[in-house]
Order: sequence, then C-alpha cells, then structure tokens
Amino acid sequence: DAPAPKAAAPATTTGDAPDLKTTAGKLAEFHRRRDAAHAGNERAIASQHGRGKQTARERLDKLLDPGSFNEIDEFARHRSTNFGMDSKKFDGDGVVTGLGTIEGRPVAVFAHDFTVLGGSLGEVFGQKIVKIQETALRLGCPIIGINDSGGARIQEGPASIALFAEIFRQNVQASGVIPQISVIMGPTAGGAVYSPAITDFTVMVDKTSHMFITGPDVIKTVTGEDVGFEELGGGRAHNATSGNAHYLAVDESDALEYVKDLVSFLPQNNLTDAPAYDFPADLELNDADRGLDTLIPDSASQPYDIKEVLTTVLDDAEFLEVQELYAPNIVIGFGRVEGEPVGIIANQPSQLAGTLDINASEKAARFVRTCDAFNVPILTFVDVPGFLPGTDQEWNGIIRRGAKLIFAYGEATVPMITVITRKAYGGAYCVMGSKQLGADLNLAWPTGQIAVMGAQGAANIVYRKRLAAAAAGGENVEALRTQLVDEYEDALLNPYLAAERGYIDAVIAPSETRARIVQGLRTLRNKRASLPAKKHGNIPL
Ligand code: HXC
Repeated sequence: DAPAPKAAAPATTTGDAPDLKTTAGKLAEFHRRRDAAHAGNERAIASQHGRGKQTARERLDKLLDPGSFNEIDEFARHRSTNFGMDSKKFDGDGVVTGLGTIEGRPVAVFAHDFTVLGGSLGEVFGQKIVKIQETALRLGCPIIGINDSGGARIQEGPASIALFAEIFRQNVQASGVIPQISVIMGPTAGGAVYSPAITDFTVMVDKTSHMFITGPDVIKTVTGEDVGFEELGGGRAHNATSGNAHYLAVDESDALEYVKDLVSFLPQNNLTDAPAYDFPADLELNDADRGLDTLIPDSASQPYDIKEVLTTVLDDAEFLEVQELYAPNIVIGFGRVEGEPVGIIANQPSQLAGTLDINASEKAARFVRTCDAFNVPILTFVDVPGFLPGTDQEWNGIIRRGAKLIFAYGEATVPMITVITRKAYGGAYCVMGSKQLGADLNLAWPTGQIAVMGAQGAANIVYRKRLAAAAAGGENVEALRTQLVDEYEDALLNPYLAAERGYIDAVIAPSETRARIVQGLRTLRNKRASLPAKKHGNIPL
C-alpha cells in the first residue's frame, strides 16, 4: 500500500526559502505551493496507475479542452484534528474542482483524487463539491463528476455524511435544470452512490469501477451470501443487471469520450437548445431509404433489427446508444437529424419480441423525461406485441412501473414523432408515443398492425364459442381457427382503421420515413406547449 502523501509545507522564511517580504519571494512561494499542490504523492500515483487508473488531474486533462481548466479551491484543506488528521492535511483535500470547456462549451467538473486519503469525503471536500454544484447551477452549465472514493471520511464523522446530504440536495435542485453526468472510475460505496443515481447519466469503467450500498463483507455477515466486488457492483453488473449505469466503458479514455459525446447532444441548461450543426438533409431517396421497403419480414413473428431503421433516419447513420446492455428489448439513445439532436426510443423486435417489461418501461420512461427536460425532440419507433405476461412482472409491479412510461410521454412537451413499423397492440400501442398521449406526428408503415391484440389471441377470444361448437361437432378445429385468424388479420391488422380516425396522421412507405421525419421536425421546430400550472406531477415511483 502506498504511504500517505506529504502535505505541502507551509511557507517559511528559513534556509533557501523565498523571502516573503519581497514580491519576487511571494511569487516564488506561490509557484512552489501550487506546484506542490498539483504534484501529488509519487508512490500513491504509481499505485493508482498500477491499477489501470489515472489521477484526478489526468482525467480532467482528457475530458476538457486543452488549457481550458480553471481550478478553484486548490489550496482548501480540512480542519479535522481527530485521529492524527492534523498531520494529514493536503492541498485540495482530495478533490479537484473547477470550470473548463468541452468543444468550447463551459462545463463544471469535480474529480475525486483517490491518491489523497482514498478520495474520502470530509467536510471541506464536500463543501468544495457543493460550491461547484452551486456554481454550475448559477451559470447554467452541465456538471460532470468523476467518482473514485472510499466514501465518507471516517475520521470526520457526521460532517462527512452531512455534506453528502447537501450534495444530494444540490443534485436534486439541479435535476432538469442543468445536465449532470457521473463517471465512476473507482470505488463508490455506501450512500455515496446516491449522487450518481440522481444525476442524468452514469458511466462506468469495466473492471476498475464499483458501486454498492453495502459491500461483500457486510452482505456476507447479514445474509450469508458470497459475492465478489465485481459481480456485486462492477461496471457490467450495473450496466446489464441493475440498470444503474448507462454505459460500460472499456477503459477510462473510452468513458471520457462517451461523456463528451453525451454532452454534445445536451443543452447547457433547460432554457437553451443543444448545439446544432448546419447539415441540410437531402430529401431524395437513397439506397438506405429504399432498403427499409424490404426490412419487415412477411411473417409477423419473424424478428428484424430496429437499429437498421434508426441508422437510416439519423445523420451519417450515427447513433449514440444509452443503456445498451440493459433491457435490450427497448433501444434508447441520441442521434441527429439535419444536424439537430434527437432522442430515440424504439422497441427491438429481435429481443423478447420487443415486448415491454418493467425494465424496458423504466428505461424508456427515464429517457423520455431526460429528453423532455433538456429540449431534445423525441422519435419513437413502435413494434410492440404488448406487455410481457407473467406473475414475475405482475407481482413486481408492471402496472405501476409500466405507468411511468405513460406518465413520461403524457407530460412531455418537446416535439414528438412516432413511427409504427409493425405491431402496436393494446396498452402497448397507447404507451409508445401514441397520438392520444401527445405525440405531434404519428406515421405508420403499410406493415403496421394497430389493434387490441394479435390475431391468435383475438380469434381464440372472439370465436371461443364457435370453436368449441366446432370441436363438439367433430369439425376440423385447427382449419377453422386458421380461417378465423386469417379473417381477423385481413380485417383488423392494418394501419388503415387507425388512419381513418386520424390516430395515424399518414401511412407512408418505409422508404419515405427519413424525409417525413426531416420535414416533420422542421415544422415542429417552433412548437410551444406547456402543462397546467402545478407544483409537480405525481409520477408513480
Ligand atoms: C477515511 C479512507 C476511507 C474512508 C479509504 N481511506 N476509505 N480514509 N475514510 N472512508 C483511506 C485508507 O485508509 C487508505 O489510507 C487510503 O484511503 C487508500 O485506501 P486502501 O484501503 O488502502 O485502498 P484499497 O485497498 O484500494 O481499498 C479501497 C476501498 C477501501 C475499497 C475504498 O479503502 C474501503 O473499503 N474503504 C472504506 C469504504 C467505506 O466503508 N466507506 C464508508 C462508506 S459509507 P492510507 O493512509 O492507509 O493510504 C458512506 C456513507 C455515505 O460513505 C453517507 C451518505 C449518506
């Protein structure tokens, strides 16, 4: 283990020390102090590097535009005297905070410095974070926090946990006002995980980052379960299983690049729009457009990859997926249309047949709210046979938790365009950005099937007595069932019944999708909508 880093020596007037009575001496002393504050402890840094981790300053260097970082509070030191802490005072107190730019746009940052007291959070450390959070909110710029910490600084007792609570409150106050992004690059233990949980996005690094409320030892003591750090709270666990994280980076550089990409799709704050590029769309059909005309298989039970539709519609086929490993039966992420950011929500027929389950509903609901909070128009692509049946889903609250998606769409006021590519059955039709929930432009392909349910289920219910009579009379029941299913399909499984009623604004050829979306977004650019005045809604949680 690396020994504790040495504290910067206080200014002195003895030996070779600068003469503090002169300006030159004062400047020399300032540079000495600042260099010492930045240098850190060699052995602790080597240990950090040995674990495949960078230091706080190295991370910020990679995240921010070169030369843009303006540090604040670099000479802050804790005031604790307990447990020999008076001999362990370090400039910065284990967290680096300040302002910089990404692609020229201002951001506020903090980065835990694990080489100082394990990045543990004491009173002054916490105050520095609260200060930069307040600054970000006041300036209206995104805040990015890099977490690598042993949690509450044990020696500082209640001061540490109180500051955590203040950080959480700042996170809540800033939620929906400025984008907040958390990057996990080491341990994040106990209550400390709740700051990332409240922020808009959490990025984790494979193998070197962990989050948990109680660690393996406590779990073993309380429940007897044997589980390791990685399995319990590693990057993969939180990306694929718990859904707490939004991206699994292969290494720290990958994580920071993803953060920069995310920031590019977000505005500085809720009162502005995300940056757009001058990228006029060519509305002539191209080969990718034409490819959509043959994408949907003849058999309704055969899957296809919805991402082919997304990449056809988005500029340069570029799609930044969010939560790729979690609930893959729904796909969410960002892209651009004519240079303007859009958020995508799409059922994925190649996973669980695109059904909506609890995880997919919550994943999509949060993303709809994220886009709506930050003025990013929403494109929804629908191919959904319904909610996933089963006691597991019912008893775990699919009613309440599926309702979150309805709530999210129902309160969204950003421009919303929905395209039904194939199935839009029952409650799932309603949920997935239907016209009645508030979408502005609803399109369907000729392969669209807008109905209460699929043909098999419908025929069994509607014709139950007829099928039973046929069975009793010795008729060929299966032949009759096939005939009835065919009749139902011909009569009801199409987009035209909904189009007759105006629930679908237009039935379009799949190849026309990109052009219709481009034109739709152009007309919606100045959409203004607001909700009834209220303190806040009461989303089912
Ligand atoms: C004070 C801490 C510390 C802490 C680590 N250090 N955590 N100091 N308070 N919470 C110090 C260590 O003493 C050590 O100092 C240095 O940081 C590096 O730690 P190591 O243990 O040597 O590193 P490593 O082996 O990598 O283990 C990292 C670790 C482990 C897994 C994070 O240190 C650990 O389990 N720490 C305690 C975690 C914890 O239980 N925190 C409280 C959670 S509750 P020296 O001087 O020896 O180099 C919480 C409540 C939040 O945070 C409340 C919110 C409401």
